[in-house]
Amino acid sequence: MRDLDDIAEPGSPERALVERLDPSRLPDHVAIIMDGNGRWANARHLPRVEGHRAGIRAVRQTVETIARLEIGTVTLYAFSTENWKRPRNEVVTLMGLLKQYLRSELNTMLDNNLRFVPIGRVDQLDPSVRKELERTVEATAHCTGSIIQIALNYSGRQEITSIVRRAATDARAGLVDPDAIDEAWISRHLFTANVPDPDLLIRTSGEQRISNFLLWQLAYSEIYFTSVLWPDFSKIELLNALLDYQRRERRFGGLSDEDQSLFTAPGDLSAGS
Ligand code: FPP
Repeated sequence: MRDLDDIAEPGSPERALVERLDPSRLPDHVAIIMDGNGRWANARHLPRVEGHRAGIRAVRQTVETIARLEIGTVTLYAFSTENWKRPRNEVVTLMGLLKQYLRSELNTMLDNNLRFVPIGRVDQLDPSVRKELERTVEATAHCTGSIIQIALNYSGRQEITSIVRRAATDARAGLVDPDAIDEAWISRHLFTANVPDPDLLIRTSGEQRISNFLLWQLAYSEIYFTSVLWPDFSKIELLNALLDYQRRERRFGGLSDEDQSLFTAPGDLSAGS
């Protein structure tokens, strides 16, 4: 975590929250389902596109705060494979906003030492979008700070299905022993193979679903739902989510330290031997 003054001004409400964070227990990877842009716009009698535009401001601020907190990875769900069902002009607008974002944010990404990585079936996107994505990936490839993954044309089920197909074809071709296909093999073939699984998933707008996002990777993630609509997701909201995460006890299917101690009391078989 960088200097507190870089994260929040002294005396501000944000600063009071940052000071309560334990820097040694921040998540390594935060994943976010950014939901509620349309409702935010409707509530203001604005076209939906204005909700997405306002959503970009929230993306900018969230990514910058994550970088300053030195959290290793943030993954943002920007466009699911199901989102193609939206009206064509909304899809075109979303892709346009993405291109604009990539162009306008490149310098900020470089200033914050951020490495940009798109995940999902980006090969199926329009060539003009792919070009901006490739340009941003190449320009930030040397950055060693936080990784910003943006999920585009992403589906968790499709990701797993294509790995199963790959396992079958590799096994048929004799390239892999079926007995060697274990969880680690699958993890190595995920879009997210180079980063740890998310410690924390945040979903805005009050919906409490995973919506086909990172199905494999979220197995043990803590989940934080907030009713705040994505365009209103401020630094305060992010810090509150991190504080809530730090109050949780992660057991990964095991027992808490306290419960464990009941089973390893003095005189336990393993003690002292
Ligand atoms: C959900 O709101 C949001 C999306 C489908 C897209 C998220 C996109 C952005 C924040 C802008 C572009 C992103 C980047 C990273 C540049 P919704 O439209 O489903 O809202 P609703 O549920 O209220 O209708």
